[in-house]
Amino acid sequence: EERKEPIRDLAGKRVLVTAGPTQETIDPVRFFTNHSSGKMGYALAEAAARRGADVTLVSGPTQLTAPRSVKRVDIASAQDMLDQVLARYEEQDIVIKAAAVADYRPVQTFDSKMKKKDGNLSIELERTTDILQTLGQRKQHQYLVGFAAETDNAIEYGKGKLERKRLDAICVNTVGKADSGFQSDTNEVIYLNKEGKEQHLPTETKKQIAHRILDEILEDMEADRK
Ligand code: CTP
Ligand code: CA
Repeated sequence: EERKEPIRDLAGKRVLVTAGPTQETIDPVRFFTNHSSGKMGYALAEAAARRGADVTLVSGPTQLTAPRSVKRVDIASAQDMLDQVLARYEEQDIVIKAAAVADYRPVQTFDSKMKKKDGNLSIELERTTDILQTLGQRKQHQYLVGFAAETDNAIEYGKGKLERKRLDAICVNTVGKADSGFQSDTNEVIYLNKEGKEQHLPTETKKQIAHRILDEILEDMEADRK
């Protein structure tokens, strides 16, 4: 359900959200990508804007439209996303990384379309920069929130990422289930914070989950200030 008159509890806060997949170029007509729809990130951007935040949405290619009040920055590759996020990091109060960033990109990209040949083809891949980890290393005043999509051991892997990337919180969602994950409208999220809070947010629409996640973040930020 939409909040008719949202509480403007994020007024004066700058929030940066990343959303969608990245595309890693092979040649002018081909790329590697993933199934991210961008829905969770867009829902977070919209919810934060409705609650009065100054929102920047750094987005990979999606079918979605961002609310007019949200500043949208379109990117394609993980490297583009890194550059655009870092350029805006300093001024943010909250950064939420909901994007599904490619872990690997082709070592070589071709200026002309690759032609097929007999036999198999191998494409060598190299690691992309972990954007979230980079943000964790450079964190000052920002409240930094990651996402983790896991098929198993969700809480354990989530906690590992929370610590390794020096996050304030991480939203873990279980993928491979019928009603949560990449393409769906609903999502089941467990919100873990650095103090050990383990908040299960029940299966709701991504819009409702977005508001619940923002509630948790605000509560944590207030607790941090005390
Ligand atoms: N992430 C990132 N940059 C990358 C890879 C991931 O910023 N190059 C971010 C994602 O946006 C997400 C978080 O890291 O917020 C977790 O992503 P995930 O794919 O679950 O974790 P990884 O650390 O990539 O580990 P793995 O894929 O092996 O589970
Ligand atoms: Ca990954």
